[in-house]
Amino acid sequence: MLQVQNMNELTAQIREWKFQRKTIAFVPTMGNLHNGHLSLLKQGQTHADKLVSSIFVNPMQFGADEDLDKYPRTLQQDCKSLMEHDCDLVYLPSDQDLYPLGVSHMTAVQVPDVTCFFEGEHRPGHLTGVSTIVLKLFNLVQPDYAVFGKKDYQQLQMIRKMVYDLNLNIDIIAGDTIREEDGLALSSRNQYLSAKERKKAITLYQELNIAADAYRADSSDFSIIKQKAIKSLTKTGFEVDYFDLCGQKTLAPLSCQSPSVIVAAAKMGQTRLIDNIEI
Ligand code: PAJ
Repeated sequence: MLQVQNMNELTAQIREWKFQRKTIAFVPTMGNLHNGHLSLLKQGQTHADKLVSSIFVNPMQFGADEDLDKYPRTLQQDCKSLMEHDCDLVYLPSDQDLYPLGVSHMTAVQVPDVTCFFEGEHRPGHLTGVSTIVLKLFNLVQPDYAVFGKKDYQQLQMIRKMVYDLNLNIDIIAGDTIREEDGLALSSRNQYLSAKERKKAITLYQELNIAADAYRADSSDFSIIKQKAIKSLTKTGFEVDYFDLCGQKTLAPLSCQSPSVIVAAAKMGQTRLIDNIEI
């Protein structure tokens, strides 16, 4: 596996693969790889000749009071996992490589509509930081396919819209959410949870399932279902940011759009968890 730290090395290799008419699948990450990430790599592999990944804790998508500094960095272990998953190249840029003038001087890519609610509302600037870095990485890697997890549902749909709106010639592939045995969605942030919090954290997925079942049985009024879920999550110790029904593609809330998805974000102590369930 090639490990490249700057964009000149990266683009030289990509040029060579393009010249050889190799197809490229790309899985961008922030590292601290778990089975969720690895499942995306496996998917990418089935689609293309070459598998490329990136590990970059993107400062542009973290708010001032968020966990940029303490975000887990496990580079050696990550490279080992990538190698075991037949990754051909990993791009490990520095902040300087991608933001030579600093984040505050960056051109930003803002995807409208789909970013209006949920993460867009609760983490101002976050989704714009994601779309900007993903477009930069797409321009450098020039993938034919890129794989994103449904775990970050709004992120996935925002990337799809960006690709459509900007006529990028990339197939976006969605990977299912990989979970712990008890249902908790794998996330690098789960390790911030204390043992006690970890036990309680499964309530989020349980409540999503309860709400999904209730909505499937009677879709006349989601607000009652929502209130019950929020009450139960609050009782467990969660501070709920949102728990809402919305359209899968548009992420427009409380519409009767079908197909729909229930998206949720809630804080357990200092740790903010997000999850969703498709209806
Ligand atoms: P990161 O949180 O490292 O996630 C990288 C990819 O893994 C994303 O597509 C995410 O949705 C997916 N993923 C995370 N947990 C998952 C799980 N339990 N099951 C399946 N897929 C999962 O998302 C980011 O990084 C960044 O925003 C990034 C797109 C790299 C831009 O900086």
